[in-house]
Amino acid sequence: MSTNEDLIGREDINDLEAILGITNTDVDEVIHAVKDNADAIFTWDYEKGQRPALNRLYEKAKTSMWNGETDLPWETEVDQEAVVANNALASGGLDSGIDVAGTPLERWDETQWLQFGVESQNWMLSQFMHGEQGALVCTAKIVETVPWIDAKYYASTQVMDEARHVEVFAKYLDTKLSGHYPINAHLKMLLDDIVEDSRWDMTYLGMQIMVEGLALAAFGFMHQMTTEPLLKQLLRYVMSDEARHVAFGVLSLKEYYAELTDAEMLERQEFAFEAAVRMRDRFLQQEVWDRMGIDPKLAASLVLQAPQRQLFQNMLFSKIVPNCKKLGLLDRNDHWLRGKFTELGVIQFEDWADTGEEYEVFQLAQGEVVAS
Ligand SMILES: [Fe+2]
Ligand SMILES: [Fe+2]
Repeated sequence: MSTNEDLIGREDINDLEAILGITNTDVDEVIHAVKDNADAIFTWDYEKGQRPALNRLYEKAKTSMWNGETDLPWETEVDQEAVVANNALASGGLDSGIDVAGTPLERWDETQWLQFGVESQNWMLSQFMHGEQGALVCTAKIVETVPWIDAKYYASTQVMDEARHVEVFAKYLDTKLSGHYPINAHLKMLLDDIVEDSRWDMTYLGMQIMVEGLALAAFGFMHQMTTEPLLKQLLRYVMSDEARHVAFGVLSLKEYYAELTDAEMLERQEFAFEAAVRMRDRFLQQEVWDRMGIDPKLAASLVLQAPQRQLFQNMLFSKIVPNCKKLGLLDRNDHWLRGKFTELGVIQFEDWADTGEEYEVFQLAQGEVVAS
């Protein structure tokens, strides 16, 4: 069995030195090429609806498209500083729970904390945008590699959804916020690993289960917190799509994983663990601290101790863990992934609702999309 060192490049999951040692060294690159190592698969079996659950999802997707240009109130004025200050107030202040005594943060005044909040938001939405592009590329790959016609059909609708998501996050960043961040190194490593893998189900596991499972939880959290009506609506629309995407992953892999051997399942368990760690690592937002002139290692150790931050970070796994359980990933091979999720401190979510059917709850109601 592989060790943590083999899988994530360090023995201790929480080794801050190692985590923060990974940085994006290509911040000025415009094009990034990754080998996708997979055969494009044709199927001559065109019988639609052989997989009724996927077929239902496909039909649902066709009638759930919205238009990022015309269905959102882009005329909304956004005062980013006011929004950040408001949101911080609701959650107990930007510095809440962080013990700054004896650190450079002790000297920060309100302006600096506000600036930090603004940078955090720019960073967060930039990473969402990059992740959405990852989804766009991965889903296009699934169209090529999955052998089932119902899944190819569905995946093609997801390609369109993801284009819309990249488009609206990019537009929001450009027209309403105050700066972009390049892709975070941990997120980039993960997206590269997903795209490089030759096995079609690994694209699903990495993207639909892990990245999109986390995105659904993160968008939900932000949707609940933000007082800015345009962003709230944008997230609402995106979440209604994301819930379908995660369901697509769960429904497809449930069938496929039922037939895999222990050895094959172990590879999937290891991949899920690696993805979980990479996603957790990125939320240390080291690039924001860097930009604020604070040593990310010092900041990370302070932030990790703040109970609110811990709660937020763990909540991000509230969709992933039940979905992994539903797929049989937690307990195969002597509970291997259960052990790892326990080490990560997220196993408590195992009995929360899985997302196989939950997408119905997230659907937009009739008339909820209002063309402006
Ligand atoms: Fe998306
Ligand atoms: Fe998605």
